Amino acid sequence: MKLFDVYPLYDITPVSAKGVILKDEKGQEFLDLYGGHAVISIGHGHPHYVKRLKDQLDKIGFYSNAVQNPLQQELAQKLGSLSGCDDYHLFLCNSGAEANENALKLASFHTGKSRVIAFHNSFHGRTSAAVATTDNPAINAPINKQQKVSFLAFEDTTGLKQELAKDDVCAVIMEAIQGVGGLDEPSAKFYKEVAQICKQHKVVLIADEVQSGFGRSGKFFAFQHHDIQPDIISIAKGMGNGFPVGGILIHPNIKAYYGMLGTTFGGNHMACAATLAVLEVLEQEDLIKNAEEIGSYFKEMAMKIPQVNRIKGKGLMLGLEFDFEVAPLRKRLIYNQHIFTGSAKDKKVLRILPALNINKTHIIDFFNALKQELP
Ligand SMILES: Cc1ncc(COP(=O)(O)O)c(C=O)c1O
Repeated sequence: MKLFDVYPLYDITPVSAKGVILKDEKGQEFLDLYGGHAVISIGHGHPHYVKRLKDQLDKIGFYSNAVQNPLQQELAQKLGSLSGCDDYHLFLCNSGAEANENALKLASFHTGKSRVIAFHNSFHGRTSAAVATTDNPAINAPINKQQKVSFLAFEDTTGLKQELAKDDVCAVIMEAIQGVGGLDEPSAKFYKEVAQICKQHKVVLIADEVQSGFGRSGKFFAFQHHDIQPDIISIAKGMGNGFPVGGILIHPNIKAYYGMLGTTFGGNHMACAATLAVLEVLEQEDLIKNAEEIGSYFKEMAMKIPQVNRIKGKGLMLGLEFDFEVAPLRKRLIYNQHIFTGSAKDKKVLRILPALNINKTHIIDFFNALKQELP
């Protein structure tokens, strides 16, 4: 059987990885500043993570959500205390798109309404309502286009007020820092206004923290750089350091009832063990602080590069904007310098999404390599 050909692949086959270094089948090492698309949060093969997963597998790997699983409770408690969101309730699923599907469905159940407001250049996933709230017609099939979604620009407070006044909106969904779009973020003032307008109209505010969450922005959640309290927070990616796990944190104003949400795999024993290991390492190694400090160091270094037009993002969710398209530069960084970086929908932005335990030496290595490859 052949694979369904949906990815243009780099001709590299990683076979092992440790920390921020990947090794391919020929023994060539690569510096990983992409983290497999912001997924690797505590580094590849972290010993605590590996041990916790192996130990869990020796005990029990999976059973259904029809029985007690104390690991889910342990995870909810740890996540609540580290994120400061301990009054929220946790529902676990398996990916970022699924987290947003559940968030949107919950908002619709809660309000009895169905239209959603999303923002220009957003990315919320590739399934049903999640892809409908993604500002990219090319990845929306006719079936997805049936969903009722209106897109607004950041800072368009007037437009938001007008849309919510129509009284048919269940949710406003936004990334605190846009990931795939290219690291744009609205002003603190706009954030506050969005939160206030949602509250006023009883519309559910969903913070999509799938990419920016779990410490990547230098705070546990990127919305915490602002003074707002979302109704639902969606999480995935760095949460499992590569183990597929997602979830939503739900404000206690939204009440649960049996059958409202459900999943076969969500919150399974292995997923809980992986997420607990990530949280324990984030705490023990003070990685959120490291993300902030190394992020600042990266920005200082980037400011010295004359070809860099703009440095975008926060913590270790960063973008370098050039005045040319970066695809060829990315290729040269991979094949000549053996460094993985990321791309964005904005073709002039090079994305940097390393593990949160990266150190200054790696950043110095990157800038030395970048200088050699810049036109
Ligand atoms: C902000 C955001 N939300 C949702 C998703 C979708 O996550 P997944 O690919 O796990 O479905 C992504 C993936 O890049 C993302 O960046």
